[in-house]
Amino acid sequence: MDLNILNEISNLKKIKNAVILAHNYQIPEVQDIADFIGDSLGLARKAVELESEIIVFCGVHFMAETASILCPNKKILLPDLDAGCSLADSINVEQLKEWKKKNPGAVVVSYVNTTAEIKAESDYCFTSSNAVKIIEAVPENKKILFLPDMFLGAYVQKKTKRKLDIWPGECHVHAAMTYEEIKNLRDDFPDSEVLIHPECACGSEAMYYSEKNNDKEMHFLSTEAMINKSKETDSKNLIVATETGVIHKMKKLSPDKNFIPINRSATCKYMKMITLDKVLSALKNERPEVKVAKDISVKAKTAIDRMVSIG
Ligand code: 13P
Ligand code: SF4
Repeated sequence: MDLNILNEISNLKKIKNAVILAHNYQIPEVQDIADFIGDSLGLARKAVELESEIIVFCGVHFMAETASILCPNKKILLPDLDAGCSLADSINVEQLKEWKKKNPGAVVVSYVNTTAEIKAESDYCFTSSNAVKIIEAVPENKKILFLPDMFLGAYVQKKTKRKLDIWPGECHVHAAMTYEEIKNLRDDFPDSEVLIHPECACGSEAMYYSEKNNDKEMHFLSTEAMINKSKETDSKNLIVATETGVIHKMKKLSPDKNFIPINRSATCKYMKMITLDKVLSALKNERPEVKVAKDISVKAKTAIDRMVSIG
């Protein structure tokens, strides 16, 4: 680890009254210099609470946009503007407008992993930690257009027993995770608990078998809830079905436990674009900045405010 970079980052943070927020999938070096690490909902809430004028957002573009919408008077820096999200890219605003036109009166419920333009066309926004509560907040008689993740949609539909019209989008990292992989690892570690992100393709099968076998060791959680669970549980072996970045904090909190990723190559190339050099450059130059245009921001805020206040 280059101590000069760490010192420079720390000095600039103080001089500029800046705070570093990092998502749980960030590389270990970036997590280690962050003031706050969390899931999408936790980071959005933290951005609102902070008094600092500058936030260096170590995550992906939609997360920085959300912070910009919630905190229009703060400078939101994203160290690499190319840090996107394959799931957010799976629907564009023209496609959503077309879908809405075919379903007049339907309520649009969008995952936080969407562009600000999509959020501006949405009634509710949600994250993996409050998806179920958000759907329960929609009046029973309303048709729901749920987007953009089909696996998360299937999970929420099963949990809430509400019929959803689900957009067929996916995240390239979680779509590759299979129930077969979980099953094989559980054969190797029969005393393990399984932590599954609801974006995983394995979710429906995992839910089906956990209900059928009355298996209480399978948990569907957001990244932050996975980390909390890994700390609280007495189990020594934990199978982790999400991007491998979460394991860094899990290991720090429970060094004596064994964390087994269902797939060691399950990494999000976008999250990994943020490096210490880029964080330093962002702090020095106060760019790249993510600023959402006012007309979009005002329209998107209602859906995002609901996300932040529910659950
Ligand atoms: P969380 O909100 O659970 O951290 O998930 C964000 C994400 O991008 C999952 O792929
Ligand atoms: Fe997007 Fe998937 Fe990366 Fe999460 S892991 S930021 S959903 S591409």
